[in-house]
Amino acid sequence: MEKVRSSGHDLQVGATEQLKAQAHIWNQIFNFINSMSLKCAIQLGIPDAIHSHGKPMTLSQLISALPIHQNKKLDSHLIYRLMRILVNSSFFSLQEVVGETDQLEDGYVLTNSSKLLVRDNPFSLTPILLTVLDPIMTKPWHSISTWLQSDDPTPFATTHGMEFWDYTVRDPRFGNVFNEAMASDARLVVSVLFDKRISVFEGLESLVDLAGGTGTVGKAIADAFPHVECTVFDLPHVIADLQGSTNLKFVGGDMFDEIPPADAIFMKWILHDWSDEDCVKLLKRCKVAITCKGNKNGKVILVDMVIVEKQNNKDIGHDHDHQLYETQILFDMLMMVSFPGRERKETEWAKLFSDAGFSTYKITPILGVRSLIEVFP
Ligand SMILES: C[S@@+](CC[C@H](N)C(=O)[O-])C[C@H]1O[C@@H](n2cnc3c(N)ncnc32)[C@H](O)[C@@H]1O
Repeated sequence: MEKVRSSGHDLQVGATEQLKAQAHIWNQIFNFINSMSLKCAIQLGIPDAIHSHGKPMTLSQLISALPIHQNKKLDSHLIYRLMRILVNSSFFSLQEVVGETDQLEDGYVLTNSSKLLVRDNPFSLTPILLTVLDPIMTKPWHSISTWLQSDDPTPFATTHGMEFWDYTVRDPRFGNVFNEAMASDARLVVSVLFDKRISVFEGLESLVDLAGGTGTVGKAIADAFPHVECTVFDLPHVIADLQGSTNLKFVGGDMFDEIPPADAIFMKWILHDWSDEDCVKLLKRCKVAITCKGNKNGKVILVDMVIVEKQNNKDIGHDHDHQLYETQILFDMLMMVSFPGRERKETEWAKLFSDAGFSTYKITPILGVRSLIEVFP
């Protein structure tokens, strides 16, 4: 083998290792193909078609059910190849079924992951998938290095000329897609919180869902706890057309200027959007809001990520744990590209809470990649 010379590290690698390295690089370069193939399957309604079919669906049955051009239906390899990628990434699996010619054939069935992508599923992640893979959100990924060489606040701002929340006002189509994505996630989180009988809302008389979007969490809490006065607070255009009820009201405003007083301030997926400095500002305002009536039992309730600490790979030993860690740091990159925010480790959360004047906190890791965090004055 020819010696590779360079002024830095020795670049010489054995042939087998070099081919392994090449395969690794290809695999990483092609990662986007997994997400774009999944997006295509969702846009064509493949999980819905297999779900409606009610039993394993053969390739020819799937092709005839899909809204694709007649000429594309004639080339069965196109959908076969798309499905092969999605079976490989565990979105569908194969089960034998008697086909049209009375022979046993492979039929596609849903997996737990694609069940969560069926549109009729109230907890469907389809709105989130379509938001994160919308060109408005994927374009800034091409500008990370440009952003790092500029003084712009985020790659999103480098690409679109304004920050995320201003963009959602400028482009109502994208704003609505984003709000629906948040609402679908909120339905799943609320159902898990109620299912696990979490006592976090017990004993409260009032609660503000701060930056609560279109009010999915606020409505669910107001219905489940009729004695709790609930307020959903968000930007004026987000809550503009929303109707309250006896114990639920919508208030529009800027949370950096005002936070209504209550026993508890709930924030789901908020602090990860903001810099440490803005988080401390917000938490200080929250502290005033939960203590201003002389209340001694007030608290802030957060739903956000606590990044698992990776120490010599010991804590991240299992595949599941590794996937959880990887998902968390991928989310962190999303926060860096779209917002001036970040995902945080426990030590980083603890510093924010103490800098904002809170005395204790409790982390309950019951929401998959996210946790429930209670913060006490
Ligand atoms: C990531 S979303 C989370 C929405 C909701 N909490 C949920 O998880 O479903 C962030 C929310 O913050 C709101 N927001 C952004 N800036 C705000 C501000 N300055 N004041 C009030 N709300 C704001 C957005 O409109 C959006 O609804």
